[in-house]
Amino acid sequence: MTLWANRMGAAPADALMVFTASLAFDKRLATSDVRGSVAHVHGLLRAGILTAGEADLLVEALDQVGDELASDSFSYLATDEDIHTAIERRVTELAPECGTKLHTGRSRNDQVATALRLFTRAELARVIGHVLQLQRTLERRATGAGDAYMPGYTHLQRAQPVLLAHHLLAHGWALARDTDRMFATWRRLDVSPLGAGALAGSSLGIDPDLVADELGFASRFENSLDAVSDRDFVAETLFDIALLAIHLSRIGEEIVVFSSEEFGFIHLDDAWATGSSMLPQKKNPDVAELARGKAGRLVGHLAGFLATLKGLPLSYNRDLQEDKEPLFDALDQVVLTLVGLDGVLGTATFDLDRMQTAASGPGLAAVDLAEWLVATGVPFRDAHGLVGSLVRESVERGVPLGELVEAHPGFGEAALELLDPAVALQRRTTPGGTGPDAVAVQLERFRHRLASDAARLAERKA
Ligand code: ARG
Repeated sequence: MTLWANRMGAAPADALMVFTASLAFDKRLATSDVRGSVAHVHGLLRAGILTAGEADLLVEALDQVGDELASDSFSYLATDEDIHTAIERRVTELAPECGTKLHTGRSRNDQVATALRLFTRAELARVIGHVLQLQRTLERRATGAGDAYMPGYTHLQRAQPVLLAHHLLAHGWALARDTDRMFATWRRLDVSPLGAGALAGSSLGIDPDLVADELGFASRFENSLDAVSDRDFVAETLFDIALLAIHLSRIGEEIVVFSSEEFGFIHLDDAWATGSSMLPQKKNPDVAELARGKAGRLVGHLAGFLATLKGLPLSYNRDLQEDKEPLFDALDQVVLTLVGLDGVLGTATFDLDRMQTAASGPGLAAVDLAEWLVATGVPFRDAHGLVGSLVRESVERGVPLGELVEAHPGFGEAALELLDPAVALQRRTTPGGTGPDAVAVQLERFRHRLASDAARLAERKA
């Protein structure tokens, strides 16, 4: 029996039920739905729709349903269209005398919006927790890297030496923005739609402020039409995840490139690399590649769902049922990616010799040489031109740059130390730059940021 059977002269077509049912995936909202329903029962009690005895029976039945769902002993019926109908059906079996009152003053429209917000709020906390874990690993590896340096790149061409710690922390700060974005999404999501009914509220005197409060929402809806049709929080979460996944894919790409024999900067732990079915010698960075690949899928979820929302008239439309699968998949895939990259980065070995050798080419000191001239009063454009011509001469005549520097009247022997990347790095004093002193400060600030984000998370979860 459908919920609307009395309205229709015929039973629904089997194919209609198959096409419209969402139970297969919205089962995942079960706990949130039970929670929302308990709050609704309390709302009905306060409004005088239920007696205290009825409310107790309903809450008891909902608790039992929650236990059955948690222990996987809940039996679904073929006629359960979605998780909301399944739970209401079971509550009515357990409390026949009042189960039929549960849906008073409520529609699946405000019910599903409530459950999805509760669910997404908890899931954002889960994702943020995993981001923090990866950031802690970056922090640990950056601390362990000390003053080791590597080539810094622009255009994937060697540019200037940078500390390995500086490079690792660059990814850490991008992740900090992801966390910040998720907290902001959380804040806008934290509004209860319960009480909006199908679209216009009800005549039954249920107070949406009190149910909002019971569910730990910061506020209730301002407009019932908006409440049942708003899925901005899903779109925002999908965006936050897509951008996070893009950051992870960039880390993945670097792991792929840096672990190639050509670079040889990092060696993956055997437990976090894969082999080849045919080529016995292979050790492949599949986790990093999948991190890169998954980002495409997650960008697709965002684009697809924005297209679903586009042009929907107020208020609820069944199109909105299409919110769940991309959201669930995006959450799961990004968590898998975070865990995978944490495993890879936490266990990889950095080949510091190889990195430092790659960063020790005299060319990487070019701008330091130019800045040395600037300190003696030469305008930068002239200094840049002079060093550029020395580099060209060195390349064309096959003479080491150091020899040309030493012989040049503008430099002399004293400037030779600039060709040592460790010296060049030491001279970089810009706050937020790659000099060891600046990186030490940066590491401290990064640790503070992690601690404050962890505290923000704990406080919101509470
Ligand atoms: N499963 C539906 C969804 O996810 C529940 C709402 C159905 N509402 C309706 N008016 N048919 O959106």
